[in-house]
Amino acid sequence: MCGIVGFTGRQEATSIIIEGLRKLEYRGYDSAGICTMSDGKASIRRSEGKLSNLEKLLASSPVLGTVGIGHTRWATHGRPSEINAHPHQAGPIVVVHNGIIENYLQLREGLKAQGHVFKSETDTEVIAHLIDQKMKECGSFEAAVRQALSILKGAYAICIVSESEPDQLIAAKHGAPMVVGLGDGEFYVASDIPAILSHTRSMIFMEDGEMVVFKGGSAEFSNVNGEKLEKTPRHIDWSPHMAEKGGYKHFMLKEIFEQPRAVRDTIAGRLREEQGDVYLEDLSLSDAQLQKVNRICIIACGTSWHAALVGKFLIEEYCRVPVEVDIASEFRYRNPVVDENTLVMLISQSGETADTLAAMRESKRRGGTCVAICNVVDSSIAREADGVIYTHAGPEIGVASTKAFVTQLIALYLFTIRLGRSRGKMDQEQGRKLISAIVRVPGLMEEALKLNEQVEKVARNYISARDFLYLGRGMNYPIALEGALKLKEISYIHAEGYAAGEMKHGPIALIDEHMPVVVLVPKGATYDKVFSNMEEVIARGGRVIAVCSKGDAEVAGKVEVALEIPEDGEEVMPIIISIPMQLLAYHVAVLKGTDVDQPRNLAKSVTVE
Ligand code: F6R
Repeated sequence: MCGIVGFTGRQEATSIIIEGLRKLEYRGYDSAGICTMSDGKASIRRSEGKLSNLEKLLASSPVLGTVGIGHTRWATHGRPSEINAHPHQAGPIVVVHNGIIENYLQLREGLKAQGHVFKSETDTEVIAHLIDQKMKECGSFEAAVRQALSILKGAYAICIVSESEPDQLIAAKHGAPMVVGLGDGEFYVASDIPAILSHTRSMIFMEDGEMVVFKGGSAEFSNVNGEKLEKTPRHIDWSPHMAEKGGYKHFMLKEIFEQPRAVRDTIAGRLREEQGDVYLEDLSLSDAQLQKVNRICIIACGTSWHAALVGKFLIEEYCRVPVEVDIASEFRYRNPVVDENTLVMLISQSGETADTLAAMRESKRRGGTCVAICNVVDSSIAREADGVIYTHAGPEIGVASTKAFVTQLIALYLFTIRLGRSRGKMDQEQGRKLISAIVRVPGLMEEALKLNEQVEKVARNYISARDFLYLGRGMNYPIALEGALKLKEISYIHAEGYAAGEMKHGPIALIDEHMPVVVLVPKGATYDKVFSNMEEVIARGGRVIAVCSKGDAEVAGKVEVALEIPEDGEEVMPIIISIPMQLLAYHVAVLKGTDVDQPRNLAKSVTVE
């Protein structure tokens, strides 16, 4: 999510680091910072906003040194501000970090008790203090890092320098990307290849649990236990354009494949598996406040509105609170019923959508309590809401939302558990069961992503279709709507999503031998019903693309294409089944030659009515 660049060699580090950070800035960031070591001292410069602000600061207040680390931040813990910008320093230790430290609250309390004083709201500052504490105890920079790593929980890629050993740079990785570039007696380290590609194409990819110490012109790789590792460099022949997209053809495809990671980050540190409950750090609503709610309105636009429809299903099923779902642009111009017992939930990836923001302001004016699900920390909606559940999808560049959507679904599952547990509608065992289903999601998504090749192959049979119909029931009905939206926005083929049971009330008239119909028919509560709807389509000559459970020969034997997804995971099916929907839209669009990442007439953040 954040961008990291480090350098150690003979040249001045600043320009190399700034150039590297600039290569990552296209994703949009909220603060940047740098630290170089000169004369045994750490010189740190940080600034809020774009990288150009940091560059201006460096122009008036330069830093020197041939060892340095830099960072561009995409806020997760703590709002975008200079104080929360990286690097963070504690004693002689200076750290930049990408990822999420799950046990930071607990560690911070312990370190505070040992006399450490924290300046920021970030999880990263804990890393600096923890290493500083370990240094005080053992006296060695390298050993202190190693000890700290064995205590940290969560995902991280970190670069660390220390005034105690000013010619050393240490990097470590667990669950977040980190690559080391080999120069001529010089080393580059970065969270992403584009940051260092102009300097070297010889790169070593670090694995989880590994660290590297750069000192005296050499790089020593080891695991956390201190065992030395031999690493083989790879030659990267990507063009700068390919590198930006992590080797994928489009940001959208990269983001589709990033989804298991995005889900892991969104649940990180929030599950209380033992208690069958979750912890939502910025929700800011007590059990008593959640108990007095007698109605929930979920308001959103577009893809986020589809997430809201899944939310209705979840909350009503598990918490027994009535939920209404509204399109923001409709809600704001109605005379909606909202009072002090109404909880209004706003879902917005960008947190800036004008209609959703206006709907929130209207709800507050009427006395409602507002909770937002947002991907952008400190966005307008997040700032003005009474509580927030942040999704940690990271910056989404493709205009068609994919990873932001699935993390919104995850946020809704988490909220459902919190609400159900606080109101006594979900007991500990039910909470545990749902949590264990959520924990399995990334693995199930990885399984579903294996459909990519098959979908790519079959997509070419459908590129001349004029219309598509998508059918689903229950929790999969909103995913049928979302599948249709994805297809139309990037391939420009007209598509409609329908509740499978509604088909016979109208759209069935459209079906003929030219009409592709995507039927979401995984095993589960509504399987038999959807199966019958699918037969109705087949009987009228429709070309069925079925998304079904692995090994479902009955479905596979009847349809033109069967896309098989993992058979378990009914509780979290909307998330898993979204993957073939995204892949189908993507491949059809690529074959049609449209601008997949920036489809015509669309914008990533709709700040006008
Ligand atoms: C479609 C898409 C849009 C957004 C909608 C709301 O792929 O991304 O439909 O979902 O414009 O945007 P946010 O979630 O930023 O409020």
